[in-house]
Amino acid sequence: MPSRRAAPTLPTKTLGRARVAASILDADLGNLAHAVRRAQSEGADRIHLDVMDGHFVPNLTFGPKTVKALRRRTRLPLDAHLMISEPDRYIDEFLDAGCDSVTIHVEIKRPIEPILRRIRAAGRAAGLSLRPGTPLTALEPYRSLLDIVMVMTVEPGFGGQAFMADVARAKVLAAREYLSHKLHGAEVHVDGGISRDTAELVGGLAADVLVVGSALWIKGRDMGREIRLVRALADEGYQYALNGGVPPIPRDRMVTFATLPRHLARTLQGEIERSGIPAFIFRSGPLDLEALDEERDWDLLLPASSEGAAADRFAARRDGLHAEAAAWRAAGMPTPPYVPAPVPPQPGELDP
Ligand code: DX5
Ligand code: ZN
Repeated sequence: MPSRRAAPTLPTKTLGRARVAASILDADLGNLAHAVRRAQSEGADRIHLDVMDGHFVPNLTFGPKTVKALRRRTRLPLDAHLMISEPDRYIDEFLDAGCDSVTIHVEIKRPIEPILRRIRAAGRAAGLSLRPGTPLTALEPYRSLLDIVMVMTVEPGFGGQAFMADVARAKVLAAREYLSHKLHGAEVHVDGGISRDTAELVGGLAADVLVVGSALWIKGRDMGREIRLVRALADEGYQYALNGGVPPIPRDRMVTFATLPRHLARTLQGEIERSGIPAFIFRSGPLDLEALDEERDWDLLLPASSEGAAADRFAARRDGLHAEAAAWRAAGMPTPPYVPAPVPPQPGELDP
């Protein structure tokens, strides 16, 4: 009896709200089975399949047979994005192929409602996608039938195009609100130009699913890291937006502990960091592009919660350095010794 291969372990369940759908449009089309398995093992939440007919968009990809073949290669949900003029002709084949959702375009010149009903009758999620120039109001006749609204932030047809931020701002949050009559399940997908550079904006607009294509297949890029970054940045954007534009993770207030020329600020910074208190230095005062970094003052900042402990140990040292700085200025700022930025200490090097 041949031994059955162990089922691949799925990545640990994702926390947060944003989901990443991996579009395989820019993968190696000669090895799509490998592409979907790789996207799965790298942590994608679902697979986005771009079907094009050379008519609705000026490009051709694949049809239901390919989708059916891929169905056997992954346990992730398959989202079919049909950029085709006559989805009614092929809808049964796509449903038979095992798509978990089917999204068609609202701009097609065929009756849309029967297609959406057909998808839902098969127990799959039904979606409508909007080209960048199509307003949300085009969805109005179909509102009660929608499980997915897909906002396109590039013109459909090709991967690797630039993200249209204005389209996202105009439509993504509005689409989320448009689906608010559905208590569960309805999703806003955003498709086109999403990467670590745009995910925070899209997440801040409450997108549920971020479709990521070309950014995953760049040679030499760590796909898993890109997926995690997109998800985390989208969640950060969402939390930030919910919190009225204040960073959601409480960040300790910083206080200025000393103001010194750079070589002395770095000296004190290193000494304080070795006691286990994080310390940062920033240029002091208003922005002055003429001021030389070696001559200007630098503020040494500490977390407010550590100020007392730092004062106990370093107040005398700070006062000594302030006096040293005054003497150095009085002497006409002779070239100071070069003090490199301190490297944060390792736990074993702390001097508590
Ligand atoms: C474009 C497709 C997108 C595309 C996204 O017509 O609908 O799904 O693959 O690719 P990127 O992320 O490269 O814009
Ligand atoms: Zn797509």
